[in-house]
Amino acid sequence: MRTSINHIKEMKQKGEKIAMLTAYDYTTAKIIDQVGIPLILVGDSLGNVVLGYESTIPVTMEDMLHHTKAVVRGSNTALVIGDLPFMTYHISIENALCNSSRLIQEGGAQAVKLEGGVNIADKVRNIVECGIPVMGHIGFTPQSINQLGGFKVQGKTLEAAQKLLDDAMAIKSAGAFAIVLEMVPAPLASFISQSIDIPTIGIGAGTGCDGQVQVVSDILGLFTDFVPKHTRQYAKIANIMSSAITEYYKDVKNGNFPTDIHSFPIEQSVIAELRKQQSDGNN
Ligand code: KIV
Repeated sequence: MRTSINHIKEMKQKGEKIAMLTAYDYTTAKIIDQVGIPLILVGDSLGNVVLGYESTIPVTMEDMLHHTKAVVRGSNTALVIGDLPFMTYHISIENALCNSSRLIQEGGAQAVKLEGGVNIADKVRNIVECGIPVMGHIGFTPQSINQLGGFKVQGKTLEAAQKLLDDAMAIKSAGAFAIVLEMVPAPLASFISQSIDIPTIGIGAGTGCDGQVQVVSDILGLFTDFVPKHTRQYAKIANIMSSAITEYYKDVKNGNFPTDIHSFPIEQSVIAELRKQQSDGNN
């Protein structure tokens, strides 16, 4: 059985911290699921850390479906949330419903995530009314990076803080089961978390959130183009991979790989016969 949205909401009521990680492929999802992390986000951050784009803006529905299917195949118990990519839920309610249902029906996700507050609350309400759980995402919203003018902490002035609170309230009232707060000052994130009765999942939003999310490639030290201030590297996988690949390269060049244990035998007589036929053919 997979984790339900009710279970996630109960965790907030019980004061249990909620962990969420991104995953984009079968193997990583399997490890995260086996560890017992209850929420896996197939984030459109895959645009940066898997596909090598500068932002999440070029990510398409087809990209999201491809990776969501792999993560669903790799997990048994986590609730899998698929990100709706840039401009796949803004144009109309029909557009938002159609793309949300694709992530659920074709991708196999159990919930969708979308970025925005008051401006997309009508879309959230309609998606939820169709029976699809929605996770909100406010604060720094990467799909609006051009509008926001870069990776910037959000909600620093009274006006901006009030807007974030209004956004959180609107998303909650529209029926979302949880909200990501990204790059929000810690005291403001705490205040929002105490003001709404659905879980807040922070990334760069301090300890007062009900849960935390990180990009798996960041915490593993796999993505090294830049290291966000809000991440902690629990490993340096890129270094480990580089050493292993260097060893492999050297072994192939100097003939140390493969050895007999990596090879498959055949009856000597077969090769002897091939040799004989070759030499008969040459004469
Ligand atoms: O796309 C993503 O990975 C996200 C998280 C950073 C919350 O939206």
